[in-house]
Amino acid sequence: MQTKTDYFHAKSKIYETEATRTNNVKNIGEAILERLTYDKATTHVMDFGSGTGLLTEQIAPYVRKITTIDTSPSMNETLRAKEKQLGCELSMLELDVMSNELNETFDSIISSMTIHHIEDVQALFHTFYRLLHSKGTIALADLDKEDGTFHKEDMGVFHFGFDQEEFAMWAQKAGFEDVTIEIVSTAKKPYGEYPIFLLTGRKS
Ligand SMILES: C[S@@+](CC[C@H](N)C(=O)[O-])C[C@H]1O[C@@H](n2cnc3c(N)ncnc32)[C@H](O)[C@@H]1O
Repeated sequence: MQTKTDYFHAKSKIYETEATRTNNVKNIGEAILERLTYDKATTHVMDFGSGTGLLTEQIAPYVRKITTIDTSPSMNETLRAKEKQLGCELSMLELDVMSNELNETFDSIISSMTIHHIEDVQALFHTFYRLLHSKGTIALADLDKEDGTFHKEDMGVFHFGFDQEEFAMWAQKAGFEDVTIEIVSTAKKPYGEYPIFLLTGRKS
């Protein structure tokens, strides 16, 4: 059996020590909460590519439950240690959503800085559409088109960011309505600044 590479193994323990990363995800979380309405009593969110839970932690106080999906055992271990302080129910799935059938549906799917690791993004949008309740929402943040300098190591990257128009078109093609996309943050690295967009949309 082939074992999937855990590209984040070395990073997981130091992942949250970089202020540029924590500040970026803080901006993304705030932007999501400004744009979408959640209900503490009922809302069930999926955080796709949840990593150590930087985004999950921010959204948790406003929802009933978060299901996290991430293929990295080491990132999941760091998130698991935070479970008691989260402030909402947590269910963690260590799987690739593209090759595993999920039996649940969600009120909202959120994601931060993960989709550039996914090869077929159009297929991902179709999967998200299927996994949402009627009127369910998406809030997906990632890198705007960049020159390939954002990652200095091999982290399993398929896209050097995205063209916003193309990204929004993939969402619309999958059936999402009220699609908006705008820059909500900048990831500042010593060698450059990288704009980060947030796309929101709604299932019909
Ligand atoms: C850059 S990290 C982002 C983590 C977190 N969302 C944040 O903003 O801090 C990307 C995460 O996506 C996960 N990932 C990559 N490919 C994935 C896939 N096919 N399915 C689920 N998670 C994946 C990685 O394991 C990693 O934890």
